Amino acid sequence: SSRIPKINADRFHKTLHETCEKYGAAHRYGQRSDETGMARLTLNDDDIAVRKWLEKEMEKVGCTLKVDSMGNMFFIRPGSKANKALPVAMGSHLDTQPMGGRYDGILGIMAAVEAMRTMHDHNVQTNGPIALINWTNEEGARFSKSMCGSSVWSGQLSEEEAHSLIDVHDKKTTMGQELERSGYLGKMKAHHTAMPLAAHFELHIEQGPILERANGKVGVVQGGQAYKWIQVTINGRECHTGSTPFEDRADAMQSAAKIIVMSKKYARKQGGLASTGLLSVFPSSVNTCPGKVTFTLDVRHKNDASLEAILFEIEREAERICKEESERGTKMDWKISFASTAVKFNANCHSAIQQAAERYVKPEEIMPIISGAGHDSCAASIRCPTAMIFVPSKNGLSHHPEEYTSPEDCAIGAQVLMDSVLTYDQQ
Ligand code: GLV
Ligand code: MN
Ligand code: MN
Ligand code: MN
Repeated sequence: SSRIPKINADRFHKTLHETCEKYGAAHRYGQRSDETGMARLTLNDDDIAVRKWLEKEMEKVGCTLKVDSMGNMFFIRPGSKANKALPVAMGSHLDTQPMGGRYDGILGIMAAVEAMRTMHDHNVQTNGPIALINWTNEEGARFSKSMCGSSVWSGQLSEEEAHSLIDVHDKKTTMGQELERSGYLGKMKAHHTAMPLAAHFELHIEQGPILERANGKVGVVQGGQAYKWIQVTINGRECHTGSTPFEDRADAMQSAAKIIVMSKKYARKQGGLASTGLLSVFPSSVNTCPGKVTFTLDVRHKNDASLEAILFEIEREAERICKEESERGTKMDWKISFASTAVKFNANCHSAIQQAAERYVKPEEIMPIISGAGHDSCAASIRCPTAMIFVPSKNGLSHHPEEYTSPEDCAIGAQVLMDSVLTYDQQ
């Protein structure tokens, strides 16, 4: 429609890369300086700094800020209706993996910044308010629950539990302490009843190879797959590696290693995925058989029932593996630390995205797609009409410093994001 202006693609590109360089570039943490890696872990100094930057920029374009008790930031641009219309939101996250790239989450926020700037430049009048949301700790890389801030907002996670999460690396700082320190422990209750939304749209990179392989430009995300995180602890008995015959050991590492390898086999058998990304060995000595090993399992499947079936098989097989560790056996503790069911996004939001996308790319470049990753939109979708827009990831790579989406594809994504929101607002 003629009322929808064009975003400023150059300004958008510059903002995306300059803020990454300035706030959280991994080389400032001792990594290689020629890399685009990001280490902007939730509520670290760079995350705080980029939040401050965002506040300044949003003030310039006439947005007011509300911060909730999870540090979720809601920037609101008023609509023209004098009534209590709820905001249509553009949300995503600014936190990254310990060695992430410049696009995961960040793209969605910077595209929303560009959308707000464009609407301001062109004096766009919307019916209802438009919101930009920066959700806290989407990654769950520092405080181990993904979609953390958005899940408290949706009511799927309690604020107490979220505040008591402990930094997985230093093993002592809590998320509550970091919210205090940062100044982002807002007074408003983190809950959808305190900050209701009309709808939630999110632009994100695909993080997988599907769009690129199909020459797709815009993915209309239908929903997200189910996943659970398990904290597994194997207890054995420490002993000397030189003097203890195999039969007399209860080697926690042997059990852990077999379980990790086995988990992939059972996940694959049912078309799912299983991964281990955190592992700790105690007491951590070359010549002591580990008495304790803890590790995570991240298990995923497109549907809830198959995910349960995979987990059932892995747990049962893991118990068997522990029993068979020499004659002594090891003992397993299995604790679910995070769960997200499969979600389906909203048809009205899909239609707004489809209409928007058709203005910029060929019909055959628009594809329905399922998200393999979790997103704040999965949590948001429990409480309001929600959908996501994917743009292609080069080589399907993400959670990696070389994560890349071309400036042209990013610009298409930002334009489609703004268009979708304006289209939805006009419905
Ligand atoms: C959330 O980012 C996930 O782990 O998919
Ligand atoms: Mn993300
Ligand atoms: Mn991520
Ligand atoms: Mn994610």
